[in-house]
Amino acid sequence: MSDKLTLPKPQGPVDGAAETLLSVEGLTKHFPIYGGFPIKRKVGAVQAVDGVDLTVGVGESVGLVGESGCGKSTTGRLITRLLEPTAGKVTYAGQDITHASRRQMAPVRSEIQMIFQDPYSSLNPRQTVGTIIKSPMEVNGINPKGGVENRVRELLELVGLNPEHYNRFPHEFSGGQRQRIGVARALSLNPKLIVADEPVSALDVSIQAQVVNLLQKVQEEMGIAFLFIAHDLAIVRHFSQRLAVMYLGKVVEVGDRDSIYNRPRHPYTHALLSAVPEVALDDETEDRERIRLSGDVPSPIHPPSGCRFRTRCWKAQDKCATSEPPLVQISGNRENHLTACHFPEDPTTEARDADIVLDPALAALEKEGE
Ligand SMILES: Nc1ncnc2c1ncn2[C@@H]1O[C@H](COP(=O)(O)OP(=O)(O)OP(=O)(O)O)[C@@H](O)[C@H]1O
Ligand code: SF4
Ligand SMILES: [Mg+2]
Repeated sequence: MSDKLTLPKPQGPVDGAAETLLSVEGLTKHFPIYGGFPIKRKVGAVQAVDGVDLTVGVGESVGLVGESGCGKSTTGRLITRLLEPTAGKVTYAGQDITHASRRQMAPVRSEIQMIFQDPYSSLNPRQTVGTIIKSPMEVNGINPKGGVENRVRELLELVGLNPEHYNRFPHEFSGGQRQRIGVARALSLNPKLIVADEPVSALDVSIQAQVVNLLQKVQEEMGIAFLFIAHDLAIVRHFSQRLAVMYLGKVVEVGDRDSIYNRPRHPYTHALLSAVPEVALDDETEDRERIRLSGDVPSPIHPPSGCRFRTRCWKAQDKCATSEPPLVQISGNRENHLTACHFPEDPTTEARDADIVLDPALAALEKEGE
């Protein structure tokens, strides 16, 4: 890796106590639904994101996980200002950017970048790799020392691609290589925060680990903060110091990685960690910790009252239907571990290694790291 490209290390410590870079409070996005004839009017709303609180420290990597449709991408798009929030506040480096105009966003825009899930559709097939990577610099009027072209070659090298392939087109690269191009493009503006929306889920299992490794290198060596979006906990395990678990538009549990993995307090987190199918949810059996989550996520147009997880929760009681559990610290849990459940201690849910599924590529990655 080229020395010239290494960014300064973050000032704060890279853990939960890091200086806050991004903070979102009560972030909400409701997509209106229109119906009626002949005059269309608003008949409802998809409550995609509903009051999310989250922070990302300088240089910190935070994982955001949850099932399909729970609002992860919408959260990512709100943070990167690709979407306008319905309510709530986004603060970046101490500055309120919730409703910042294009002009007000200009100095910040280059510092927050996004990497998308699909490396095929996120690259313009008619542009060369060189053009794709250099265009953010040109749009933002950035002229690096040594010239734009030189910088693009350095970035290609940094992400593990041949700098001589500057003039090639995206179709000449494999899926993993295309995602590397996406990473190089995101790095071209020296970002401080990257929102990576399922950056490896469209890739072959065999190359997922390589791309995760590259992102981890970028995070650790360049001190770039990440919000890493994934739908399973296995992938963020390697990557994130802190994890936030989302369900139906809300964060239901957030905490340090070890605390979440070893001592999940929300039944949904525990279910995500647990993976053995066909086991009855019987508290009296040895296997009570093995949970198969049944049923689908309810519609975000009409989410359940009270706790949104109650229609799938084996611990639900009357209170769960009438009152929404706040996201709070549970006694006995470490600091920085918050859970939104009325009955977090009952029964105790201790995750075991056997409950955690690792896909083969990630298992290989773990071995590599030993
Ligand atoms: N532009 C939109 N208009 C209406 N509804 C939308 C829009 N974008 C997303 N939604 C809905 O908002 C909810 C959350 O979607 P989102 O894409 O954020 O979920 P996700 O957690 O990223 O899911 P996945 O894992 O499938 O990517 C879904 O019900 C989705 O259908
Ligand atoms: S509040 Fe009730 S329904 Fe919700 S997770 Fe806790 S026990 Fe289950
Ligand atoms: Mg998504």
